[in-house]
Amino acid sequence: MLDGKKTLFSGMQATGNLTLGNYFGALNNWLTLNEEYQCFYCVVDLHSITIRQDPAELRKRARALLTLYIAAGLEPVKNCIYYQSHVSEHAELCWILNCFTYMGELNRMTQFKDKAAKHSDNINAGLFTYPVLMAADILLFQSDVVPVGADQKQHLEIARDIAERFNSIYGDVFTVPQPYIGKVGAKIMSLQDPAKKMSKSDENANASIFLTDNPDTVIRKFKRAVTDSDNQILYSEDKPGIKNLIDIYSSATNKTVEEVVKEFDGKGYGDFKLAVGEAVASILKPIQNKVEELNKDKAYIDGIIKDNAEKAGYFASKTLHKVQKKIGLPERIR
Ligand code: TRP
Repeated sequence: MLDGKKTLFSGMQATGNLTLGNYFGALNNWLTLNEEYQCFYCVVDLHSITIRQDPAELRKRARALLTLYIAAGLEPVKNCIYYQSHVSEHAELCWILNCFTYMGELNRMTQFKDKAAKHSDNINAGLFTYPVLMAADILLFQSDVVPVGADQKQHLEIARDIAERFNSIYGDVFTVPQPYIGKVGAKIMSLQDPAKKMSKSDENANASIFLTDNPDTVIRKFKRAVTDSDNQILYSEDKPGIKNLIDIYSSATNKTVEEVVKEFDGKGYGDFKLAVGEAVASILKPIQNKVEELNKDKAYIDGIIKDNAEKAGYFASKTLHKVQKKIGLPERIR
């Protein structure tokens, strides 16, 4: 709780391009959350360096992500969109929380095991303590709710454990965060394998629609989407390819599944795929135009970056100072 409003915190990695899945599953549902919550959306660049990054590329991607969030409609005055590395309290609190986290707990993290297997030449200590930095992100802002996907549930759980452990020793210092359960968008699946989630790291570029894809690319990818040999627009678990396209069309047009099925009654897959492609392209185009416009105004984005880092820093330093005092570090005079 900050300033009388509940706090919502989310962090996002600047690796890989955002997909339509990220848009309908997350971003698009966040646009009005600031009415109810004090919202923080942090570009977690310190997390990114747990995997080796090309410096110029990392900087470019981080800025592109921040710009995309704004272009997609997250208003930067109402939502604090900022870089983790600009608010040094994240790293400072992470160190302290490292001293309240057990090796055994971190050893159990499935994402650590997966990433360690994938990057066996660089199993660094940062990769191991990644969940502690994430806990610091969340706890710094006394966050009440955190929107997370299934893959991050375990990390949120450890953040809660750390908060509870700390509170049991020092009193009520941290708000114990809950997963955000709100309006969830449709789960968007791969266009090439509808059994898999659409992913920004899919090796097959035709499997995912990126928010940066131009209209021709979008339409081409939908034309090639895997369906079945039937030719009827029916919403059924036995037809996962068509079901996914119906979900996408329904999200893009705000029509219900029933309305969509009715609209395409008697029509074939070709017509339907084209309609889905056009509907998605017409959602993405204004976002892309806005990105282009924002990219021309460097000073505006720089101003947001600075103001929001200051705003985040204000709240973060309050929590950090409280923690430092509780654990017996000398009182801060600067
Ligand atoms: N680990 C998250 C992911 O990869 C990103 C993240 C970092 C995050 N800090 C966070 C998400 C705090 C929510 C809250 O998706």
